[in-house]
Amino acid sequence: MNNKQTEYWIVDKNQDHLNIHNEIKEAALWIKKGEVIAFPTETVYGLGGNALIDEAIEKIYIAKGRPSDNPLIVHIASKEQVGNLVSEIPILAEKLMDAFWPGPLTIILPSKNSVSTRVTANLQTIALRIPDHPVALALLEAADVPVAAPSANVSGKPSPTTAQHVNHDLNGKIKGIVDGGKTGVGVESTVVDCTETVPVILRPGGITKDQLEAVVGPVNVDPALFEEGNIPRSPGVKYTHYAPNAEMYLVNDYQRRMQTFVNQYRDEGKRVGILTTYEHVSDYDADLILPCGYREDLETVASHLYETLRCFDDHDVEIILAETFPKQGVGVAIMNRLEKAAGKKVL
Ligand code: TXA
Ligand code: MG
Repeated sequence: MNNKQTEYWIVDKNQDHLNIHNEIKEAALWIKKGEVIAFPTETVYGLGGNALIDEAIEKIYIAKGRPSDNPLIVHIASKEQVGNLVSEIPILAEKLMDAFWPGPLTIILPSKNSVSTRVTANLQTIALRIPDHPVALALLEAADVPVAAPSANVSGKPSPTTAQHVNHDLNGKIKGIVDGGKTGVGVESTVVDCTETVPVILRPGGITKDQLEAVVGPVNVDPALFEEGNIPRSPGVKYTHYAPNAEMYLVNDYQRRMQTFVNQYRDEGKRVGILTTYEHVSDYDADLILPCGYREDLETVASHLYETLRCFDDHDVEIILAETFPKQGVGVAIMNRLEKAAGKKVL
């Protein structure tokens, strides 16, 4: 589909009663009618469509160029809607909802099959989340339908953390964009499967394993996230993702080895970029050095990761060498995204 013009609404997220603002009401009406609209959440921008309408979901897959065996997260405005969508709410899931919603946690539960089968890609489970963003919540409330929304990027590219990123990827391909400013968390929600006795993390994200365990006790991690050869239970996890145009490598022991690798590639005549943090910007000599936050505070790195990866695309570097991060707290999600962006290539 090619919409001739993508509408663009700017909304100040700090205003009161957003759900009755004209821009929000208009965008919500389009969603309800089956068009797709991009909107901000606290993690990344989502591309929303009415989860009850097959054609709306089809439009999402087409605009993104997304494989249709990759199910979508259904976004809702309140916990009361959960009962319409799932056949059972285990106590552990209820505890997680109370502790982390609205927030960057997606919960997988047995589906009641009340949404389009294209949303769940014919699985018997459904992924749900209440986002913690005033614009998203106002839009969901005004639309008054469950809204399926993947990240609003072209499939394979870094997720969008600004409306400009969405516009870059999807202008002309979607009905509209609600610009509510830059998102905060910067990496997507944690996806946790609550269909078994012990919850399983299928995708690391904004909520850490420790945070989950503090509420529900032991939580497992899908082995496919750290062991080669296992098939991931979250279909989306198997695809190459978040990749900038240049060839990217992660560099272990970067403080000792980074400059040597830069020099080697430059000797081969290649233009080299480095993804680093503010603590180390002045340690290197390369064609482009981009800091993404402070290593001291990994949340700042998560918040700027995707925009930094996109920024490399604006400069003609051929090789990107990235520092690695400790796999602790939100560092687990950061490393998961970096490994995918680099296609697991580590030096
Ligand atoms: O923060 C986020 O989660 C953002 C914002 C927009 O909410 N959304 C997002 O959606 O990241 P997406 O489509 O890019 O990622 C959804 C992930 C995929 O890995 C998908 O395979 C998984 O959730 N997923 C969805 N439904 C599932 C299900 N029933 N079982 C297992 N995994 C599921
Ligand atoms: Mg995505």
